[in-house]
Formats: sequence, C-alpha cells, structure tokens
Amino acid sequence: MTTQQLLAQSLEQVVERVGDPAPLVYQRLFERSPELLPMFVGDTRGSVRAEMFLRAIDTLTDLAGERHYAAGMIASEWSNHSMNGVSTRQFDSFFEIIVEVCQQALGADWTPEIDAAWRSTLDRVIGVTARVSAAA
Ligand code: HEM
Repeated sequence: MTTQQLLAQSLEQVVERVGDPAPLVYQRLFERSPELLPMFVGDTRGSVRAEMFLRAIDTLTDLAGERHYAAGMIASEWSNHSMNGVSTRQFDSFFEIIVEVCQQALGADWTPEIDAAWRSTLDRVIGVTARVSAAA
C-alpha cells in the first residue's frame, strides 16, 4: 500500500471509530496551547476551524502522494499565519496533533506501517515549514 493509501485508509477507520476527528483535534490543541483559543473568538459558527482542518488534511494527503500543491499551500498558509502571530512551532503542531488524534482513535490498530506513513508525511511538512521560515 502506498503512503497516500495508508493515510486515506487510516483516516476512514478514524471516522468509523470517532466520527469527525476535527473537534478532538481542536480540543487537544487548545488544552495544550490555551493561548491560541482567543485567536478563534470570531469563529462563532466554527466554519474557520472546519475549513482549516479540511485544508490541513488535504495538504497531508497531497504531501503523501502526488505533491502537486502541498508545498505551495503550506508556504502560503505559513506566511498568512505568521503575519497573524502563529509561530512555526505552533503551525507544525496542528499537523502533529492530527496524527496524535488519529493514533489514539485507532489504538491497537495503529500499525507500524501506518505510523511510518504518517511520520514520513509529517517530516515533509516540517521540512517545508523549516525552509520557508528560514528564507523569511
Ligand atoms: C496551531 C496552528 C494554527 C493556528 C493557531 C491557526 C489559526 C488560524 C486562525 C486564527 C484563522 C482565522 C484567520 C482569519 O479569519 O483572519 C485561520 C484560518 C485558516 N487556517 Fe489556520 N491556524 C493554524 C494552523 C493551520 C494549518 C497547519 C493550516 C494548514 C493548511 C491552516 C489553514 C488555515 C486556513 C485555510 C484558514 C482559512 C479558513 C477560512 O477562512 O475559512 N491553519 N487559522
């Protein structure tokens, strides 16, 4: 199975187990970094959070496979977020928390193969943000 297939399949399993994982991702993000919560006060309907989560998933999926647009997407969102006061570490942490939530949802079914697929994709994210932040 390819890295992209492993991500897609494990995401399907996550949804079967816990439904939409986005609320769990934001819960964990704000528990770990409560200072980020005030940034979302204007997002009363949750649409920004929903869109942000979906874009992050699309980006990870592209990075795991064809990589048509992920690096550009990460670079432009890193830049927008950086202007809004989001550090590179905080930006990366959103992707890391997605992986943690998926791992927790799958429990014993989180295989070494699935783990390697997500870790290599995360490494690519961190490679892109390290490059763009160093060049900024
Ligand atoms: C902890 C890290 C992050 C924080 C604190 C954060 C914060 C925010 C905030 C406050 C907004 C609303 C900005 C506004 O309306 O002016 C936003 C929007 C957005 N973020 Fe993030 N972000 C993070 C990580 C990411 C990541 C990794 C992505 C990856 C693609 C991303 C994608 C987006 C997108 C696409 C929007 C626009 C959504 C919309 O307007 O509907 N964010 N983010």
